[in-house]
Amino acid sequence: GRGTVVVAVSEGNYIILPCSLSSQESLVRTRFHWKKDDEREVFVYDAGLHHNNRRSGQDEHFRGRVSHFSDQLKFGNASIILRNTTVADSGGYTCDFPFHQPDRETFNVTLVVGAAPKPFVGILNISEVGVQLKCEVRGASPKPKVEWRDSDGNILPAEEPQVSRTGERYDITLLTTVTRTNSSLFLCVATQEELSHRAADEIF
Ligand SMILES: *[C@@H]1O[C@H](CO)[C@@H](O)[C@H](O)[C@H]1NC(C)=O
Ligand SMILES: *[C@@H]1O[C@H](CO)[C@@H](O)[C@H](O)[C@H]1NC(C)=O
Ligand SMILES: *[C@@H]1O[C@H](CO)[C@@H](O)[C@H](O)[C@H]1NC(C)=O
Ligand SMILES: *[C@@H]1O[C@H](CO)[C@@H](O)[C@H](O)[C@H]1NC(C)=O
Ligand SMILES: *[C@@H]1O[C@H](CO)[C@@H](O)[C@H](O)[C@H]1NC(C)=O
Repeated sequence: GRGTVVVAVSEGNYIILPCSLSSQESLVRTRFHWKKDDEREVFVYDAGLHHNNRRSGQDEHFRGRVSHFSDQLKFGNASIILRNTTVADSGGYTCDFPFHQPDRETFNVTLVVGAAPKPFVGILNISEVGVQLKCEVRGASPKPKVEWRDSDGNILPAEEPQVSRTGERYDITLLTTVTRTNSSLFLCVATQEELSHRAADEIF
């Protein structure tokens, strides 16, 4: 096996799912087949017929959003472009050449489609104990790591995060209590390593 390629994008964008025969032999007169999670028909190209040209059977979820690169077929390039991505597109994709000789070739691509909302911070309570700060991240995917930090970047002790999940999306609330002696600037940082994405909100 060649291992799995991982590609990541945030929702509402487009992404190319790569797949190429190393032999670079032409695909114009043969077939390749993209599936998601071993079951959903993403895209089939079969000697000129394909899902944007008279071939039926494409999964409804992908209709009108997938194209191949016809000018690349002669170089053995079966990559596809997926437009207007949604979180539900995340998953394992396989690109298969069922008639390839001498060995049937299969390539795997893992797609991560993320939603990267900004955290939102506010004051929840002021008492003699200190100021209770609240950080909320709503609808993030994949699950972010949420932390309170001071202006020097130190991670502050916080309560256990409250996490709720709806489908692939996460709502996270993180509370901390700070005192006058701490610092005057506090940041809530949400990190999604899979998307190489980090967002923050701050409060004085
Ligand atoms: C590709 O993924 C399938 C499952 O979807 C797995 O059976 C196969 O071993 C994987 N191939 C490679 C080359 O990783
Ligand atoms: C295949 O075609 C796509 C779209 O033009 C391109 O981004 C990609 O680099 C090509 N792959 C190879 C191996 O040439
Ligand atoms: C993209 O997807 C969203 C949600 O599925 C939909 O509301 C919107 O109309 C789509 N936009 C385009 C350009 O297809
Ligand atoms: C504010 O914090 C104080 C001290 O912890 C607590 O007694 C009080 O009930 C809190 N008020 C609210 C509205 O949560
Ligand atoms: C703020 O400072 C107090 C006293 O130095 C300490 O006990 C507390 O843990 C600090 N709070 C945070 C959120 O760092």
